[in-house]
Amino acid sequence: MTVEERQIEFERPVYYAKQFDAVFDKRRYSVIEASTKAGKTSACIGWLLERALEGKPGQNFWWVAPVSDQALIAFTRMQRSLPRGTFVAHLNLHTITLFNGAVIWFKSGDRADSLYGEDVFACVVDEASRFKQDAWHATRTTLTATRGPIRIIGNVRGRKNWFYALARRAEHGDPDMGYHRLIAADAVAAGVLDAAEIEDARRLLPDRVFRELYLAEASDDEATRSASMRSGPALLRCRASRRRSGVGTSRSLTTGRSGSRSTSRGAAAGSSGSRCPGRRPWRGWRG
Ligand SMILES: Nc1ncnc2c1ncn2[C@@H]1O[C@H](COP(=O)(O)OP(=O)(O)OP(=O)(O)O)[C@@H](O)[C@H]1O
Ligand SMILES: [Mg+2]
Repeated sequence: MTVEERQIEFERPVYYAKQFDAVFDKRRYSVIEASTKAGKTSACIGWLLERALEGKPGQNFWWVAPVSDQALIAFTRMQRSLPRGTFVAHLNLHTITLFNGAVIWFKSGDRADSLYGEDVFACVVDEASRFKQDAWHATRTTLTATRGPIRIIGNVRGRKNWFYALARRAEHGDPDMGYHRLIAADAVAAGVLDAAEIEDARRLLPDRVFRELYLAEASDDEATRSASMRSGPALLRCRASRRRSGVGTSRSLTTGRSGSRSTSRGAAAGSSGSRCPGRRPWRGWRG
């Protein structure tokens, strides 16, 4: 049997500068507290794919999320971003096996016990503020033998959770950890979010909810609980005096260090040896 080498040119999609710095932080851990729709899931799909493209046959790469429906979002998006012929998706196992033999798994953190046992070479924990603590512990063990890198991303959600504590540790300068905050204004400035849409959310949502979801500012858990007991129309709790004016309207894309190319090689048994159809395995911002 002949084994031909196949070469695929990978073109990194355009990230905005803060998004790139957060996700492609060189440190082993990057903890990212971010606004909703700031582009954390999309960018981490790209990051994990790049790690897997550098991987070897049989190596495992994990995407974990609080429940399987959330992991499926990334599973679907990653498949849609890859050209046909460069991967095989297993719809029951929720895996994508790349042409180089690396396997990307999309898992639920619902049952921590099911996460023990594997050696994982790179990992993303999505929606970390909603991810169970014991599942985080299990996930961390899978990176022990490999010393694999991890991106931990989520909205801010109160202070009494492991993600908040880890973010504070990263923020206070743990040498192995990067800490990043992406707020709605960053995504607006990059042209990813629309300023008017953010203002509408600010108008409609309770102030503390808006601050967590769009400004990545944690509310006090006690305050959150008592506020939720005081039910009432959201608009009444949205005080104009607390509005911020820092949301810009620029639509220009900040490209930063994005767009660089890298080439990934892989040995594909019995492949035609031709160049892969579609020059860009990651086709950018779909879904
Ligand atoms: N750099 C970018 N340029 C253009 N569009 C982008 C960029 N990054 C992300 N997007 C788009 O922005 C939208 C939101 O991205 P994504 O789902 O990754 O955000 P998120 O921060 O994970 O949101 P959520 O809070 O819902 O989890 C998607 O449609 C995505 O394709
Ligand atoms: Mg997301």
